[in-house]
Amino acid sequence: ITDPLVLFMPSGKRGRFPVGTPILDAARTLGVYVESVCGGRATCGRCQIEVQEGNFAKHKIVSSNDHISPKGAKEQRYEKVRGLPEGRRLSCSATVQGDLVIDVPQDTVINAQVVRKAASDRVIERNAAVQMCYVEVDEPDMHKPLGDLDRLKVMLEKDWGWKDLLIAPHLIPQVQGILRKGNWGVTAAIHRDMDSSRPFIIGLFPGLKNEAYGIACDIGSTTIAMHLVSLLSGRIVASSGTSNPQIRFGEDLMSRVSYVMMNPDGREAMTKAVREAVNTLIGKVCEEGGVDRHDIFDCVFVANPIMHHLFLGIDPTELGQAPFALAVSGALQFWAHEIDIDVNRGARLYTLPCIAGHVGADAAGATLSEGPYRQDKMMLLVDVGTNAEIILGNRQRVVAASSPTGPAFEGAEISSGQRAAPGAIERVRIDPLTLEPKYRVIGVEQWSDEEGFEEASWATGVTGICGSAIIEVVAEMYLAGIISEDGVVDGSLAATSPRIIQNGRTFSYLLREGRQGEPRLTVTQNDVRAIQLAKAALYAGVKLLMEKQGVETVDTIRFAGAFGSFIDPKYAMVLGLIPDCDLDEVKAVGNAAGTGALMALLNRNHRREIEKEVGLIEKIETALEPNFQQLFIDAMALPNKVDPFPKLSA
Ligand code: FES
Repeated sequence: ITDPLVLFMPSGKRGRFPVGTPILDAARTLGVYVESVCGGRATCGRCQIEVQEGNFAKHKIVSSNDHISPKGAKEQRYEKVRGLPEGRRLSCSATVQGDLVIDVPQDTVINAQVVRKAASDRVIERNAAVQMCYVEVDEPDMHKPLGDLDRLKVMLEKDWGWKDLLIAPHLIPQVQGILRKGNWGVTAAIHRDMDSSRPFIIGLFPGLKNEAYGIACDIGSTTIAMHLVSLLSGRIVASSGTSNPQIRFGEDLMSRVSYVMMNPDGREAMTKAVREAVNTLIGKVCEEGGVDRHDIFDCVFVANPIMHHLFLGIDPTELGQAPFALAVSGALQFWAHEIDIDVNRGARLYTLPCIAGHVGADAAGATLSEGPYRQDKMMLLVDVGTNAEIILGNRQRVVAASSPTGPAFEGAEISSGQRAAPGAIERVRIDPLTLEPKYRVIGVEQWSDEEGFEEASWATGVTGICGSAIIEVVAEMYLAGIISEDGVVDGSLAATSPRIIQNGRTFSYLLREGRQGEPRLTVTQNDVRAIQLAKAALYAGVKLLMEKQGVETVDTIRFAGAFGSFIDPKYAMVLGLIPDCDLDEVKAVGNAAGTGALMALLNRNHRREIEKEVGLIEKIETALEPNFQQLFIDAMALPNKVDPFPKLSA
């Protein structure tokens, strides 16, 4: 007779197991992730499952509650003390008695939360590098003089299968005290990143400890964003952000590199500033989530190359000039306290690999999150900042480049530009007949409808135009015929509209007449030029990668980063920032780099996945490509001199 068949849902993994096998063991054997903290003692309740009843013809399984063992003494005790929801069983106690279809319900519930918060459409299967393992250690025996730590290791191997365990040195003097305090029952936090590496005891607690957290952090030049996540449930406990204090050393990346070059203590000062900000942010997410920062055992970081180097204490000078040599490109793994991150003393830290000198671990995070290499469609992934990081590819091949878009898209170098903040104009519509504008202002309550926005000239405290609105206003100017394909403001319109005003030898568009001490907001010919230069740099970078891939069009476009979240894809295409594509296929994915960090935190397999993928990505250095200049010149025109945009006109 063959052994009963056990099928796990929703993964669909299945296998045959002898009658009497604990369901948890069956899950482990098949690589189905079912949580367990108490090691099958029926005390933690983490291993709950449900039996699906019915006749599953396709799998030739008849599954019913008769095919699972009745509740034993331990499970009954757990149910009495802690309660067990209707239909739920403890998989560590329940055993296989016949064919079974098992639902692993916790995963689906928890992952749904992760998915929602991370604005990602994938399920992050959990396989964290840190596990909490409860054991009951034998009491000392004069006849067997094995040390307390050694007997702890024996039990961790016996109950949890951990072989060749190492222990964080700071724990060694504490072992005896903790074992006695827990009356020989202790929970060990075990870290293992790679299957081939030796596992480490990184934390030890008296009794059963049911909590372990991790952080996933994206260090951007302007903003640092962080998720605090339960490593046991996968739930995002809190998310927050703060501005990067390095801004005081220089707004953009290159000015920060110059700061390092000009000031002997520059590197140190910036490293200190960013680490302090990270520690403050950890405090903030912990407070929000009601978590003790010492319960954080794993930290994953992504950052652009210069932030990555400064955070790690590496001088970024080499990244400031060709050949843009990274001090280290591979993923790194070490103790968090070594770079002064204030979490549990035994916590580990992992950084994703950098792709190239200008395409950092943040781009690797975004690549992991969006996964162009996981699909057949040709995907364009762009993260727009002062440098655009561009990834293009599919299952066959992925290429990457960066392009110097400059700070125009962030509102810098634009006469009325400002950061997105209250008082900034964020949306603009221009009536093509009257040339009168309507706009939305951040922090000002206004209605908007299909046609556009309430006229908001009445609003007060309007201080500037933010990056996304600059794209819109230039695109609207083009659509209203105020600027030509070459980007020249048409001065002849000044005769019919007071909105077109002369400005020396060129003309400007008057967006808002300042009042009560507010600045007057205009879009000048220089502003239009700055946007043209920035968009041409982005488009030329994209086009170069399309040529490398030998494709005329892309199937799908993902905008990562804050800028991408606010920009309207239609206007991005009107201006020719991005190539022609179905508008439905253009999506803003928010902080995709942060989502990638989250994936690497919750599942160590994702670390291997992106490490491998980054090795395969072909890096293109735009500065060395002979036809980049021509592509750039063609891309100065709106939307482009040579490339058609058929989907846009449709
Ligand atoms: Fe802890 Fe089952 S593993 S209750």
